Amino acid sequence: MREAGKVTAYILSELKNVIKPGISTLEIDRFVEKTVKAHKMIAAEKGYCGYPANVCVSVNEEVVHGIPSKKRILRDGDIVSVDLVVEHKGYMADAARTYPVGNISDEARRLIKTAEKAFFNGINFAKEGYRLSDISNAIQRTVEGEGFGVIRDFVGHGIGSEMHEEPQIPNYGKAGRGPRLQRGMTLAIEPMITQGSYEIDVLQDDWTAVTVDGQLSAHYENTVLITDGEPELLTL
Ligand code: MF3
Ligand code: CO
Repeated sequence: MREAGKVTAYILSELKNVIKPGISTLEIDRFVEKTVKAHKMIAAEKGYCGYPANVCVSVNEEVVHGIPSKKRILRDGDIVSVDLVVEHKGYMADAARTYPVGNISDEARRLIKTAEKAFFNGINFAKEGYRLSDISNAIQRTVEGEGFGVIRDFVGHGIGSEMHEEPQIPNYGKAGRGPRLQRGMTLAIEPMITQGSYEIDVLQDDWTAVTVDGQLSAHYENTVLITDGEPELLTL
C-alpha cells in the first residue's frame, strides 16, 4: 500500500502541471493511464463496478465519479476534482485533490482549502484510543463552520486488498461512536463538500454525481495508516 500510495501521490502532484485551461478531462485520464503503467501498477478504478475510465474527473458542480471525456474542455475559472486508486501487488491506495483551472474565484479557493483543512482536522483523531466518528465529527464541524455543506450520500472507507472495505467513514455525525481505532488499520478519509446544499443527483450516465443546486463541490482524500503514534499518510 505504501508503494501504491507513493505513485498515487506522485501522479496527483504532477497533475498540477497538466491541468490548465483548454485541456480535456480525457487528457487527465491519459496522463494517469500512462504514468501508472510506467510504474508497472494498475489504475484500479477501471472496470470497478463497470466504471469506464482510469480515474474519476469531476468538474465544478460534479461531486464525484465524473467520467473523463475528450468533449469536456476545462476553462479558466473551473475547479476540477481528480480521484485516483492505484493497485500494486494486490493492494490499493486511494486519494483525491481538487485543482484550480487558471484563475478561480476567492470563494472557489476557500471551498478547496476547506476540504483540505477538514481532512487535516479529521486526522487529529486518526489515532489509537479515538473512535471512528471522532474523525467524522471534526470534519463536519470544520466544513459547516465555514458555511459549506457536507455530502451525505458518499463516505470514506477502509481500504486494503479491496478498494472499499469496512468500516464506512461518514464525513458527519456525533463524536464518540463506531469502532475504536487500532494500529494497522488503513482508512481512506475523504471529505466531499459543497458551496450550498449537500443534496446530489446522479446523471444519465449512471456515474456522475452533481449538486442539485448546481453549486461547486470539492474533494480531498488520502489513504491513512493508523499507527501507535501520528497517522502515516500513504498518499501524500
Ligand atoms: N475512488 C473513489 C473513492 O474515493 C471510488 C471510485 S469508484 C469508481 O472511494 F468506480 F468510480 F472507480
Ligand atoms: Co475513497
